[in-house]
Amino acid sequence: MSFTRRLLMAGSALLLGIASATAQAFPNKPITMIVPFAAGGPTDIIARIVGEHMSRTLGQTIVIENVAGAGGTTGITRAAKATPDGYTIAMGHMGTHGAAAGLYPNLAYNPQTDFEPIGLAAGTPIVIVARKDFPANNLQEFIKHVQANQKTLNAAHAGVGSVSHITCVLLHSMLKVDVNEIPYRGTGPAINDLVAGKVDYVCDQIVSVSEQVKGGTIKAYGIATPARSPSLPDVPTTTEGGLPEFQVSAWNAVFAPKGTPPDVLAKLRDALVKAVTDPGTRKKLEDLGGVVPDARGASPEALAELVRSENTRWVALLKERVKQ
Ligand code: MLT
Repeated sequence: MSFTRRLLMAGSALLLGIASATAQAFPNKPITMIVPFAAGGPTDIIARIVGEHMSRTLGQTIVIENVAGAGGTTGITRAAKATPDGYTIAMGHMGTHGAAAGLYPNLAYNPQTDFEPIGLAAGTPIVIVARKDFPANNLQEFIKHVQANQKTLNAAHAGVGSVSHITCVLLHSMLKVDVNEIPYRGTGPAINDLVAGKVDYVCDQIVSVSEQVKGGTIKAYGIATPARSPSLPDVPTTTEGGLPEFQVSAWNAVFAPKGTPPDVLAKLRDALVKAVTDPGTRKKLEDLGGVVPDARGASPEALAELVRSENTRWVALLKERVKQ
């Protein structure tokens, strides 16, 4: 065998050895989980609860990095372009991986093809919440007040394409109103301003508002799901409140960049399933109103299908509902 051929074989063996050692060793340093919104909002809350349990399984810290902007698409773009080695993952959601493609013609990522799905972390029903002195006692009065005062009211959201934006777009189109929209870098800061009475209402995911609703610092007019939430049993459904067509529940899920090695993905997926099936983690999410999947619901196949169907559904819905 020639010297060059022996050198090439030794080189390939070395590379194979390094690749397998890297996978064996994963994770050997902290993992960054990008949250594409400000701290204190639903995506951040879910990422911190689920990430904490995943880090115990993986034996490494999961560092939450809030990369907010453009309705979550700034952070998710960064995740899509990250080195696909498992050390950068992201918590995406119904906005970033469903609706964004319908609102950003130059979106820098394809939600269906630029990621490896890890799995669903939690479903998050939408609740219509308002400042505590909003002059309406129930959903029907809320609707009448919004219709009569649409020019002076402010609805806060987490940026174009965020869940709070698209769900209030849907609500406003059903109520046939044109309300001023105030964008924030996440519903964490938006809810702070709602508590302070600086904005009028928000269509938010239950996990970031249930504690404030229970504490009476904001009011809830309706939960947009077929049944009431055990976390907010006194809040009527939108059907009970006379707006049955407003049905929407969001979701948050973990993604890795396309090309992350299969054995690294297997470890991340195993850690996610262990997190969502852990009784303590489930309780934390359920106490806030989260709808936690079982192992099958948290599978990568289920998430890939969810992204496909939600992407198609929201792009069509927004085409129909958003003013052109
Ligand atoms: C957040 O974490 O702030 C939310 O998920 C934003 C949203 O999409 O409404």
